[in-house]
Amino acid sequence: MQKKQTQKTPSIRQLLTIVGPFFARHKLRILGGLAALITVDFLQLMIPRILQRGVDDLTAESAQQINLLHLGLIIIAIACTVAALRFFWRYMIIGFSHMLECSIRDRIFNHILKMDAPFFEKNSTGKLMSHSSNDLKVIQMAFGMGTVAAVDSTVMLTAAIGFMLFINVKLTLLALLPMPFLAIATRILSGKLHHRFETVQEQFSHLTEFSRSTISSMRLVKAYTMEDLQIARFDQLGKKYVKANLKVAIINGLILPVATLVANIGMLMVFFFGGQMVIKGNISLGNFVAFITYLYMLIWPMMAIGWVANLIQRGLTALKRIYRLFQQQSSLGDEQEKELAVPAAKIELNKLHFSYPRSAEPALNNLNLNFTKEIYGITGRTGSGKSTLCKLICRLYPVPENSLKIGGLDVNRISIETARKMISYVSQEPTLFSDTIASNIMLGTENASQKQLEKAAQQAAIHDEIMALPEGYQTVIGEKGVKLSGGQRQRLALARALLANRPILLIDDGLSAVDVETEHQIFSNLRANTGRKLTLIVSNRIKLLSMTDEIIVLRDGKIEAQGSHSQLLASNSLYQFMAEKQNSANRGQA
Ligand SMILES: Nc1ncnc2c1ncn2[C@@H]1O[C@H](COP(=O)(O)OP(=O)(O)OP(=O)(O)O)[C@@H](O)[C@H]1O
Ligand SMILES: [Mg+2]
Repeated sequence: MQKKQTQKTPSIRQLLTIVGPFFARHKLRILGGLAALITVDFLQLMIPRILQRGVDDLTAESAQQINLLHLGLIIIAIACTVAALRFFWRYMIIGFSHMLECSIRDRIFNHILKMDAPFFEKNSTGKLMSHSSNDLKVIQMAFGMGTVAAVDSTVMLTAAIGFMLFINVKLTLLALLPMPFLAIATRILSGKLHHRFETVQEQFSHLTEFSRSTISSMRLVKAYTMEDLQIARFDQLGKKYVKANLKVAIINGLILPVATLVANIGMLMVFFFGGQMVIKGNISLGNFVAFITYLYMLIWPMMAIGWVANLIQRGLTALKRIYRLFQQQSSLGDEQEKELAVPAAKIELNKLHFSYPRSAEPALNNLNLNFTKEIYGITGRTGSGKSTLCKLICRLYPVPENSLKIGGLDVNRISIETARKMISYVSQEPTLFSDTIASNIMLGTENASQKQLEKAAQQAAIHDEIMALPEGYQTVIGEKGVKLSGGQRQRLALARALLANRPILLIDDGLSAVDVETEHQIFSNLRANTGRKLTLIVSNRIKLLSMTDEIIVLRDGKIEAQGSHSQLLASNSLYQFMAEKQNSANRGQA
């Protein structure tokens, strides 16, 4: 149902809901700017009238020097006022368009941050980046210069044509004869431009996504000596982008000459027919000069109309894309919260079935489980669904009604906030930020004291190593600082989870890069921590698993076996095989 809604082309009214409230909030600013703009137009339209008077006085030989000086001074006064008012409307309207851009950008960012995992699988980073760069730029242009040009050209066109009609109706009709051709040409050209611009946007998003994914997986690129290949691919994408831009430039280049040509054909008519009228004395020389000046004044608005049409079209397309983005709602809505109490640290799976979006095979298949003990080990071959189970418990993906309960409550009835307040999650690939060690550990627990921080680090067996670093907890890590080993990264992520001290702790393979002794120490610390009620540890290490209260063996998304270490050793072939292999490896090492 929702899918259908997102596919449908949104109406202009729906699109305007994005920008409408912002216009309403700043209406004084916009009206003030537009009033200044229209005043500028009328002041400019006065100049040909003054010229007409001057020229007519000269031809009638009634001109006096003082009068001419007078006219000159009026022109200068008009020019000064025009300059001041131009500054004013630009400040008001262009300023408004930047504020609009900023507000939509904030809204996009806000929206993206609240989305669920399926959303990020559907929308690439490049696509999301292009919304907040290209699309916003186009919208800013459409509502800034677009509004200005639309109002300016309408006023100028009507007023200038009005003055021309006032001078001579027949001559005006002749001068404007070529105009419809301009309208048709602009229509065709701007339609083409619009299409080609879409291609430019698309190519740009491919380019951004490619460079982002390459740079962020630099180690992989180097490990497989893919540099030249990636450079060649990047070059290809870059060339496609240039090509798309050139196609836009061709059309953009055509618009100006076409407009000038049409205007000059009009000028030819005026010189030919208007000249005759002056000779015959039908119109005065002053009016003839004023008429030509008005005709020149028409060139810009005539072009602007074509330009505005395509600017608005582009703006609407960009708004459409952003509207569609806003239409995509997180399937993990917060609004269904029924229970406010923090549920107990118990997890229950009831026929839990789950497939990733766009994947035919279920990743978890009909799981029934009741986690009632304190520490569980979860094991199974790669791809058996261990991480998927952790991600579902963390509510990164939506689950069917009543299939996953926390503390007896369907997770769909608990707000995401409450659910996440209950769970600390150490993911399989821990994410650290380019920041100090302290801020990395305190992520989500910003008000922790130094003592609590150190305690968490001690429990994760990383404290001594942090203290050995040049600036201890204040050492900056990541891109701009000290590099950490895989095991150190895992333990930092664990310290972060321990500091958060939530009732449920999920560790997805979080100790795989830690030596056996440290692993044992960390496990003892976990066991000793009484604040927590339920811990799930994903691991393939028999030593670690044997210390847990119960072990779940997953295979192809199903529970293959469940029991204590000794039970599984006696009954499960995969578990026996793993134990046998790890035992002989240990004997080999000894
Ligand atoms: N984001 C995803 N989109 C589609 N399929 C996925 C996604 N993540 C995992 N899968 C698939 O779901 C199944 C279970 O994956 P999962 O990551 O849960 O395995 P795992 O047991 O954690 O494996 P490992 O031991 O390698 O970490 C696999 O078949 C995997 O290919
Ligand atoms: Mg995994």
